[in-house]
Amino acid sequence: MFYVAPSLLSADFSDLRNEIGRMEDAGANYLHLDIMDGHFVPNISFGPGLVSSIRRSTNLFFDVHLMISDPLRYADAFIKAGADIITFHYESVEDPLSVLKTIKAREMPCGVAISPRTPAEVLFPFVGLADMILVMTVEPGFGGQTLIPETLDKVRTLRRYAVRKGVDLKLEVDGGVTADNAWYCTEAGANVLVAGSALFKTRHPRGVIQKMREAYRDHPFLK
Ligand code: DX5
Ligand code: ZN
Repeated sequence: MFYVAPSLLSADFSDLRNEIGRMEDAGANYLHLDIMDGHFVPNISFGPGLVSSIRRSTNLFFDVHLMISDPLRYADAFIKAGADIITFHYESVEDPLSVLKTIKAREMPCGVAISPRTPAEVLFPFVGLADMILVMTVEPGFGGQTLIPETLDKVRTLRRYAVRKGVDLKLEVDGGVTADNAWYCTEAGANVLVAGSALFKTRHPRGVIQKMREAYRDHPFLK
């Protein structure tokens, strides 16, 4: 399966209901929600209050990306606010495996993310355990950056590992993804594409999503 996840961070915050509706109409599957605490990353975004407000206006799958220092402290608040999956950063905690288990014990799907400088191999033990793996293709913290091509090698490494293990892995890429580089992402093995600027800053998000889906159809691993 293939999923497109618009990142709300790039939306017009004065008009969220319409912005989300625009993504639904364009054929998005997920809504990617970037939670930043000004500590794990040098930026602050929004919290569970906003998530629960927008929960009332859409049925999109809420893909909550926690870029915060103490994910367990806030996980329950995001679950209550309507998250459908919670992804935390491997680098943000002492014991990622126990964080994963704690969140999954709440019957909440849980993903693990790595920043560009973290090697792919640290996530091998999570392939088959985590509900999703997120490879950041930019330094986390801000929308509108350019995808770092070397990060796609890690996507390839993780996809190959999953194929070898027989795991049907949800592998998400996040940061600088556009209609033009989507093919490289899917070719490397990604099957969940997050895009902020590429979807919210265009008047024709449907065309961008279509191009992303076409890129997946050329995908060599997951036919
Ligand atoms: C960056 C966030 C991304 C970001 C993506 O820290 O995790 O989700 O909003 O935005 P674009 O697609 O503009 O890079
Ligand atoms: Zn994100």
